[in-house]
Amino acid sequence: MLDIAFAKPELPKSGALVLLIHEDAKPSGLWQQADEATDGAIARAFSVAEFKGGKGKTCAILAPGAGLSRVLAVGLGKEDDVKQTTLEDAGGAIVAALGRETKVAVAADALKSGQAAEVALGAVLRGYRFDRYRTKEKAEDKPKLTGLTVMTANAGKAKSAFEPLQGVAKGVFLTRDLVSEPPNVLNPAEMASRCEKLAALGLTVEVLGPEEMGKLGFGALLGVAQGSVNEARMVVMHWNGGKKSDSKPVVFVGKGVTFDTGGISIKPAGGMEDMKWDMAGAGAVIGLMAALAGRKAKVNAIGLVGLVENMPSGNAQRPGDVVTSYSGQTIEVINTDAEGRLVLADVLWYAQEKYDPKFMVNLATLTGAIIIGLGHEYGGLFSNNDSLSERLSKAGEHTGEKLWRMPLHDNYDKQIKSDIADMKNVGGRPGGSITAAQFIQRFVNKKPWAHLDIAGMAWSSKDSPTIPKGATAFGVRLLDRLVAEHYED
Ligand code: BES
Ligand code: MN
Ligand code: ZN
Repeated sequence: MLDIAFAKPELPKSGALVLLIHEDAKPSGLWQQADEATDGAIARAFSVAEFKGGKGKTCAILAPGAGLSRVLAVGLGKEDDVKQTTLEDAGGAIVAALGRETKVAVAADALKSGQAAEVALGAVLRGYRFDRYRTKEKAEDKPKLTGLTVMTANAGKAKSAFEPLQGVAKGVFLTRDLVSEPPNVLNPAEMASRCEKLAALGLTVEVLGPEEMGKLGFGALLGVAQGSVNEARMVVMHWNGGKKSDSKPVVFVGKGVTFDTGGISIKPAGGMEDMKWDMAGAGAVIGLMAALAGRKAKVNAIGLVGLVENMPSGNAQRPGDVVTSYSGQTIEVINTDAEGRLVLADVLWYAQEKYDPKFMVNLATLTGAIIIGLGHEYGGLFSNNDSLSERLSKAGEHTGEKLWRMPLHDNYDKQIKSDIADMKNVGGRPGGSITAAQFIQRFVNKKPWAHLDIAGMAWSSKDSPTIPKGATAFGVRLLDRLVAEHYED
């Protein structure tokens, strides 16, 4: 993780200087000082580049004089329109542009201390890399940048504002690491042992194996797992940061299919490697729990993840099998590739029964259909509770992890009627994401609940300002924000 230092504004004598500029603002502070020290090089460059500080625009000036290697100006748009995401994106743009620098000072003297911290968060988030398995990368291909100094009038205040943000960033990085890991390394047992390491942050972690889950009657989850030599796990992580020890916990549940071949209803070969990230819902729950602990959130939160590998084998579940879920409801498994809902069925029922939650939010890379509906811009939100849904949508707007509410309605239930069991696990192509949501709703026992279908959001094929391409950790910041805003004592 990039090192972030906060210091009082002072024109650096070497290295790179970053200017954060509001649209149509007049030079002042460090900007003006730098322009004077470079005999007007900055003003001349802005004029040639027609740079006025528009949001998302940048202007780089190489070797401008005064000992500086370069000046990078990053536009913030109009001062009144600056949002948290604007500042984070600016921070991300700095890291994207200055990876070859070793010394970078960011002039945030036109910003408030909290805003300076948000720029730093964006920089940290963009600086993520997963390079564990690269043994031959040349030095010139690796970023040299290891940290930034953010200059702001009240450096102490900015530092205190940054501390909790850094706790959240660590959670995001944990999720990105888990989601990036190859599926031969990150099987259910390995994922569970990574959860156990979170005890160091003050979380209490329980791990259940196939025997314990068998005794409980997790027929739906274990049916998915039975085709793999890699045994299933369920992990329960507790963070007891709430002051009132009697307050009902907030509960998060994640789909953790460490690899989804489709099982006997096998997927086509093209792109199947993507199914290593079919555990991104669980990955987000784990990162979220780390984030809550890392910033010592005043909340009682429980994270549960159902971890399985969906493989075809002589012992795999067949299309046509009927399984009995932990709730007692029976399910005819028409398609073994609709496995996520089977995993969630047992974990959700367990969560509501054992913990009497204030609400449950589950995250899952559940359906390809949600990508057809919403593309890669919004996660799908399904909920039986308008106020929870509203709060989630707002938290999404704020953090840039946007959600779009989708319908639930009994009329969809006819699509998952089975001729021989209580329900079947697929409802045909029409409204595929909705019938999946209707299915899991049967396992929430009418508790306040939301389901986030993040199939289109968990992985990104291109860089964006605060998310390098690859694992996004979608959901961690959103749910951290939901908790921070509404559920802390
Ligand atoms: N993990 C997939 C969903 C998925 C697809 C996530 C593409 C990310 C990208 C899920 O288990 C699945 O296979 N769903 C099926 C359901 C169908 C069989 C009803 C799907 O969406 O095709
Ligand atoms: Mn599947
Ligand atoms: Zn899946």
